[in-house]
Amino acid sequence: MKQFDFLILGSGIAGLSFALKVSPHGRVAIVTKKNRAESNTNYAQGGIASVTGRDDSFELHVRDTLAAGAGLCKEPVVRTIVEEGPARIQELIELGMKFSESENHSGSRVLDLGREGGHSRRRILHAKDMTGREIEAALLNAISKQPNISIFENHLAIDLITGQKLGYVSKNHCLGAYVFDKKGNCVETFSAPVTLLATGGCGKVYLYTTNPDIATGDGVAMAFRAGAGIANMEFVQFHPTCLYHPRAKSFLISEAVRGEGGILKNLDGVAFMDGAHPMKSLAPRDIVARAIDSEMKKTGADCVVLDITHEPANFIIERFPNIYRTCLGYGIDITREPIPVVPAAHYQCGGVVTNVDGETDIAGLYAVGEVACTGLHGANRLASNSLLEALVCAHRAAAKAIACLPPEAQVKIPPWQSGNATNADELVVVSHNWDEIRRLMWDYVGIVRTNKRLERAAKRIANLQDEIREYYWNFIVTSDLLELRNIATVAELIVRCALMRPESRGLNYNLDFPESNPEWAKRETVLRR
Ligand code: FAD
Ligand code: SIN
Repeated sequence: MKQFDFLILGSGIAGLSFALKVSPHGRVAIVTKKNRAESNTNYAQGGIASVTGRDDSFELHVRDTLAAGAGLCKEPVVRTIVEEGPARIQELIELGMKFSESENHSGSRVLDLGREGGHSRRRILHAKDMTGREIEAALLNAISKQPNISIFENHLAIDLITGQKLGYVSKNHCLGAYVFDKKGNCVETFSAPVTLLATGGCGKVYLYTTNPDIATGDGVAMAFRAGAGIANMEFVQFHPTCLYHPRAKSFLISEAVRGEGGILKNLDGVAFMDGAHPMKSLAPRDIVARAIDSEMKKTGADCVVLDITHEPANFIIERFPNIYRTCLGYGIDITREPIPVVPAAHYQCGGVVTNVDGETDIAGLYAVGEVACTGLHGANRLASNSLLEALVCAHRAAAKAIACLPPEAQVKIPPWQSGNATNADELVVVSHNWDEIRRLMWDYVGIVRTNKRLERAAKRIANLQDEIREYYWNFIVTSDLLELRNIATVAELIVRCALMRPESRGLNYNLDFPESNPEWAKRETVLRR
């Protein structure tokens, strides 16, 4: 058994920020399922929303966040995160993060502020179009100097270990996690009085997504199995502009491209957002994604296009070097031709229920970042608010965990039990079930929903879960099988939450209830095992 004071599952912005804050207070393990940098964070393009501009104010950022959230945000949480943002960003800069700068009117260098959908001001701090890569590098560099922190790469957390489950303590208490060592091909037990879930989101539950392969909703699935509350899973955010190209896998075209003048058009060149919303192509994401979906259905086209060719080529190349280079690699010169784009699953607004300090309803278990549901995003996340939420909440959760560090639990944790059969022929079942879940979620639980489709999805997911259970317990675990079990659980939770909400609000658009219902304005959909 490996014993630590703090066990952190995930090495994106949430896990790494938390690790840096707690490391002076004990031994820290960071468990991460691929290499240390592989995370949604690493692919973030647009940047971090925070109030630094002279024409901006906390009030305006709060107002924009609440408007995007369609009535469901928790206002005190929004205020805390918005107001504490600048201090956390300053810390990031002190760690070595280099945000892009530009010259102001008097010729001084100032932070360059980008604009994205739903923001009434320029307030996005960015590192060109590779903000996440720079943040991840700055945090990992700082972590490498901390002797108290050990990183376990290629280690996939399977399940949380809770006291109640083991019958040692009356309150449900997290004691650590069972972790699959992918290279060693064995399951290890990690114990710690404080465990942080920082496992990110669940984009891979859908066939088309902007997310990398790590995003299989493991944290939500583990927390649900452990008895934590899970909320608002129906609010899956579809990013309007994922590159549409047969060879491109999950490549995002940042909203910042629209922020700098990019215009969405159909294949006949009509700027269809002009009549759809006063903010046109820069309307909040739920509105833009639905408008694209409807345009594609109306015209029968496979995609729409994003046109920024009217901006000077040197500006485009300088501001969006990664997008320019990547598109060029697929034969698309974005300075000369419009970019083919489609919506794709992007962000999980719901998650493990926490307060703004990252506390879940299981003692000793914290959750921060995309895995958590703090109430900041409500029914639709405002662009670039997630990196901000992760930074602020990691700081607060670390302070809380240090202050409430429970005495080390003197419990004997039994080793992991697993089946011992192997059957290579059956591996095809795992990959078939993966594909089936992702396709049915895309077809039946996508941007536009109906109760009939949701119910159909629920039945199929239940059948698949029966198969997975049988397979899971009989055979030696593999990471594909563990992730399959998790995406099936998360798919179930998304469908159940969507069926619980008899209205359309934010990202949950249901043709059977096309309007918002005021009775549901403040109600979250909460599920427990
Ligand atoms: P992640 O960064 O996803 O990290 C999760 C970590 O957990 C990873 O290390 C992963 O390997 C690990 N993990 C997962 N499951 C397990 C397991 N079972 N065992 C062990 N380890 C596990 N947001 C913004 O605010 N601004 C942006 O500009 C922006 N751009 C984006 C662009 C793209 C392409 C994408 C996909 C997202 C973007 N987002 C953006 C969203 C934002 O990047 C994420 O919400 C945020 O980075 C999540 O951080 P996190 O630390 O919670 O999770
Ligand atoms: C983007 O750059 O468009 C992504 C921003 C975000 O998801 O917040």
